[in-house]
Amino acid sequence: MTSSDIRQSFLDFFASKAHRIVPSAPVVPHDDPTLLFTNAGMNQFKDVFLGTGTREYTRAADTQKCIRVSGKHNDLEEVGRDTYHHTFFEMLGNWSFGDYYKREAISWAWELLTDVWKLPKERLHATVYRDDDEAFALWAEVTDIDPAHVHRFGEKDNFWEMGETGPCGPCSEIHVDLTDDLSGAALVNAGSPLVMEIWNLVFIQYNRDEQGVLHELPAKHVDTGMGFERICAVLQGARSNYDTDIFMPVIARIAALTGRAYDGDAAVAMRVIADHVRMLSFAIADGAMPGNEGRGYVLRRILRRASRFARSLEMREPFLWRVVGTLCDTMGTVFPELVERRDIVEKVIRSEEESFNATLDRGLEIFDEIVRKLTASGGTALAGDDAFKLYDTFGFPIDLTMLLSEERGLTVDIPRFDALLREQKERSRAVTKSTVVFPTGRDGAGIDLELAPADASRARFVGYETLETDAEVLGVKLQDGSAYIVLDQSPFYVESGGQVSDTGVLRIGDADCAVIGLTKSDRGIIHVVQADDGFRLDTSDRVRARVDGPRRRAIMRNHTATHLMHAALRAVLGTHVQQAGSLVDPERLRFDFSHFSKVQPEEVREIEAIVNEHILAAQPVAQHRDIAFDDAKKMGALMFFGDKYGDRVNVLEVPGFSMEFCGGTHVRNTAEIGLFKIVSEGSIASGTRRIEAVTGQGVLREIDGLHDALRRKDADAEGLHDRIRQLEKELSRFALQQAAGALDALITAAPDWEGAKIIVTRVTAGDAEQLRALGELLRGKLGSGVGVLAAVIDDKVALVCVATDDVIRDRGVKAGAVVSELARRLGGKGGGRPQIATAGGKDIAMLDEVLAQARDIITAPAS
Ligand code: ALA
Repeated sequence: MTSSDIRQSFLDFFASKAHRIVPSAPVVPHDDPTLLFTNAGMNQFKDVFLGTGTREYTRAADTQKCIRVSGKHNDLEEVGRDTYHHTFFEMLGNWSFGDYYKREAISWAWELLTDVWKLPKERLHATVYRDDDEAFALWAEVTDIDPAHVHRFGEKDNFWEMGETGPCGPCSEIHVDLTDDLSGAALVNAGSPLVMEIWNLVFIQYNRDEQGVLHELPAKHVDTGMGFERICAVLQGARSNYDTDIFMPVIARIAALTGRAYDGDAAVAMRVIADHVRMLSFAIADGAMPGNEGRGYVLRRILRRASRFARSLEMREPFLWRVVGTLCDTMGTVFPELVERRDIVEKVIRSEEESFNATLDRGLEIFDEIVRKLTASGGTALAGDDAFKLYDTFGFPIDLTMLLSEERGLTVDIPRFDALLREQKERSRAVTKSTVVFPTGRDGAGIDLELAPADASRARFVGYETLETDAEVLGVKLQDGSAYIVLDQSPFYVESGGQVSDTGVLRIGDADCAVIGLTKSDRGIIHVVQADDGFRLDTSDRVRARVDGPRRRAIMRNHTATHLMHAALRAVLGTHVQQAGSLVDPERLRFDFSHFSKVQPEEVREIEAIVNEHILAAQPVAQHRDIAFDDAKKMGALMFFGDKYGDRVNVLEVPGFSMEFCGGTHVRNTAEIGLFKIVSEGSIASGTRRIEAVTGQGVLREIDGLHDALRRKDADAEGLHDRIRQLEKELSRFALQQAAGALDALITAAPDWEGAKIIVTRVTAGDAEQLRALGELLRGKLGSGVGVLAAVIDDKVALVCVATDDVIRDRGVKAGAVVSELARRLGGKGGGRPQIATAGGKDIAMLDEVLAQARDIITAPAS
């Protein structure tokens, strides 16, 4: 039987027993940030076992792509050295969800192995959990296995757990005896390739919690897993998994590329490479990327291990990527994602190989130098500091340094290396804290703030809804010239998720105190202000908290634009693009993401075009707050890997385009972003790119910068000036569009004046003509009411007032009169028709105050 036949006959067998055949879940579990890789067929059914999810069937079977690189289920260093452990493998499995139990599981396993596949019964051994008398008795009752071939084992071998926590239970395993003289009984569970476990039948009946306590599950389930590569080896009579038709074409390809025969030390290297290329290809095809943390780091280590073995075959140029095609040929029918993503898989592997080779060359020189000095002085232990330098500067994994040292008869001072590594981690944590959480350099952590626990629960963040609020002081502490203050409500956003902290003031008494630091604590947001002699503030006092609005609005524009750009990147470059980090401040946005090559200029332009299309479409932005994590997952929201999420999360959605977990603050309509422009693109690490971009006024600043640069060069400036004028024109058009997009929201939110609307607001406009145009637009949309729009243009105030005909007729309002009164109070003049009128003023500082009087002027009885 070929491996394809074997896979198919397993599925057919269970289909005939009323099992639903389901597809393999991705090997990269995107919806479970707690799990690095899918490590068993049951992962996708974890919720069913725990009773938190259901399926429309109670029996299922599949072949599942699995990765095991470390932990309780595998030992990476063994892979390739022996012939039956893998980092990537297929697991054939069948499941019962509260349906059949031990009896059927055992009897069907026996039937498939001995009846369908005709394995010699005398070669099969079964194990059961020490206390599982039920399973022990069933083997005798429902099969004709030799009673001497049923063995009891303890927890280590016969109690299966998914991980530290989760579904688990006693299991019964089937082992195959490959010894010539059938002497394998003593080798069961002894780690011998001659007696291998091939199938594990787990009887899931518990959930292990975080304290390690077992809880009985509401229903009992069956979860089985058979090593596909192993069963193929057994059925094909192969000496090892690598001698089956699953691996032979891959090994043959490696042999052809390296010009070496598959034997001796070369055989180990070829097995390592064959195994690791499978792992890398499937993981990358499912969206993982090599990187410096978590899942990405595992990929990088695996690739480097394969590269090192490639060197032992004298391969100095990248070649692992050339093996991917063979994998597509042999496995592409069952797993078409491999063929679809072949291009990306090859590129990623190749670029990783290239950068590792370069590092390796440089690092090896340094290593030789260290060893020369060491042996000259008669030493035999490589210093931890040297090992750390190799790691830190040349990306040498410690196991590589150990391996190279071992080859030269040297040891490595690992405790010292570990200590240095720990120190480095702590250092980088400390840096993050002072620079990110406290951009202004005031750290509130460690401040002993007296605050009743009941009060702490009252402290709320209200900065999604408002930028300014009255608040009550819940606690205050003076220390070293600073005051640390907790309020019952605060509009101040504290750095998180890449978005920087707000700035602003607390009005205390009649003084505006600048907020010079912010941090989150379990007692709420702590605001830091300067406290000079005579500063007084007590619990229960009231203050007014005011965020710097223009700055915060610039931050929101950049943050929402970051989401649009992320979606555009995935649309243009592919869904392998994943966020690796981000920074959002009022000046710009910075976004790091996984991608294997330079983003080409035409791709940059396409990304810009897509983002700007969504801005021009003036789409509403939906902020789903405080929803259940599971609901957010169901909605399909993208997560930022590596982040831990609580039970309640926030999701930001631009309908039909982008949906991501995000707790930051955002504009309500994409039009508010104004315009989006990418200003730089580059690499920050192998496989990780960084883009910086600007929005809104930032684009104008960018253009101004260009403009200034151009002024300095007058030679061939003419054509470029045209381009700038054109951009400026475009920008005013965008500014107008932006304001127009916001009008609808303004109208909806406008206070009611006995059935009519009154709108008074500041807007951005390029010139008086635009402002007037905006006024016309407002008048058209208003239905019934009066609108006053003010803009600062060339250091002067420009005003437009509009009134609808019914308001003019029934309430005697005249736009001309309103605007001329407003202008008078601003040290200017103007007027016009009752329907629409414009005016100018000089006193910009008075503008907000005068606008606050507009309503009274409008509603005052007409004289
Ligand atoms: N989940 C069981 C295993 O992985 C079947 O061995």
